[in-house]
Amino acid sequence: MTTEKPLKPAVIKELRNIVGPPHLFTEPEELTVYSYDATRMTSLPWAVARPATAGEVSRILFLANRERFPVIPRGAGTGMSGGSVPARGGVVLSFERMNRILEVDGRDMLAVLEPGVITGDLQKEAEKVGLFYPPDPASSAFCTIGGNVAECAGGLRAVKYGVTRDYVLGLEVVLPTGEIIRTGARTTKSVAGYDLTRLLVGSEGTLGVVTQITVRLLPLPEAVRTLAAFFPGAGQAVSVLARIGAARIVPRAVEFVDQGALRAAEGYLQSELSGGAGAMLLIETDGPAASADRERDAIEVLCREAGASKIFRAGSREEQDRIWKLRKSISPALYALKPRKLNEDIVVPVSRIPELLTEVDAIASRSGLLMVTFGHAGDGNVHVNVMHDESERTKAEQAVREVFEAVVRLQGSITGEHGVGLAKAAYLPLEAGPETIAAMKRIKQALDPNNILNPGKIFLNAE
Ligand code: MLT
Ligand code: ZN
Repeated sequence: MTTEKPLKPAVIKELRNIVGPPHLFTEPEELTVYSYDATRMTSLPWAVARPATAGEVSRILFLANRERFPVIPRGAGTGMSGGSVPARGGVVLSFERMNRILEVDGRDMLAVLEPGVITGDLQKEAEKVGLFYPPDPASSAFCTIGGNVAECAGGLRAVKYGVTRDYVLGLEVVLPTGEIIRTGARTTKSVAGYDLTRLLVGSEGTLGVVTQITVRLLPLPEAVRTLAAFFPGAGQAVSVLARIGAARIVPRAVEFVDQGALRAAEGYLQSELSGGAGAMLLIETDGPAASADRERDAIEVLCREAGASKIFRAGSREEQDRIWKLRKSISPALYALKPRKLNEDIVVPVSRIPELLTEVDAIASRSGLLMVTFGHAGDGNVHVNVMHDESERTKAEQAVREVFEAVVRLQGSITGEHGVGLAKAAYLPLEAGPETIAAMKRIKQALDPNNILNPGKIFLNAE
């Protein structure tokens, strides 16, 4: 059990000694900067430490166990579930100083990174030597690889390439009790003992603090082809998913954007692309040029057969960037519709996406709330955003519960890529049975007996 009281002056002094005076913040205006994430939930930490090494992180965790204060690892604060919000106060560990790409190894096709590396910077460095880091969260220009590992970020290319866990070969981790361990290897294969790497990826900063990450890279695809298809309605758009599957094509991205999201993003960027359409599919193929072309052409035909009213082929990198900018700006753009959103990241088997959208429509009509849906339909993971103002809060929460119940009925999961964090802790029991949750809690208890690391996350009323 962690203390709920702020830190003693002697502890602050010790923390200052560990990271150096310029790297320990305790002033309210400094703490505010580390108090929130993209959910807009906020809670002030008691201090912020910016370590430079795993050794410093280890000393902080030893201290936290002795003095019983919470420690909350934080990347860039772009998370969507409150994972880095210091819900119970404590010391935020911010990785701005541990932001080096230590190695890009072209022979073994891997990179070794500190947790504060911006994901987009890794992608660019890999590209310079003809390599490719596929996971691409919509926030790749500013999120960090450490945060991606903590949440097992998914993003826009998971249809073909999978998610963060599929690329992490090994980790250096400081355990909640302060010991530094290494998991995995610099190889694709390794079965030496339990797969702690997989356990830690997606553990939402509750089981260990990641201080170094080894990721697998792929050869950079020779060609990328991007298509935006506009449809009169959402049903026609998502009917393309089954057609693509039946054609045995695996595009690298299939993003769905409904009318509300489309209008919001176009308004936000002051750019018009959709011509008033009811829904958009954004599809990307890659590989050798001939095959990327062939697949793009085949998908274009499938879109027309499904009723596409307009199709836009990106002819240059600039045009590709323009379409992706539209897609990646949806999340902030939605705030123009209502002051608050509950943004979910539900996932269902791809074949059940049409049913899911029907359920979401029914919930929106019943509740009278504005609900906006967009996201990674190609892998079954869509963002349902329940837009509301403060007076509609209870109704919005009820709508979220109904969405989750529908997801579980459709054999999906309540969170595909943002994690449980604070936002979904109350809903985890809808998906995971009591024995499963008890097993998870036993793992937490074994690794973090004093509940130092990121307390209050994942489990409702976590000790
Ligand atoms: C996205 O796909 O744009 C992100 O996951 C953010 C969001 O869900 O709003
Ligand atoms: Zn997403």
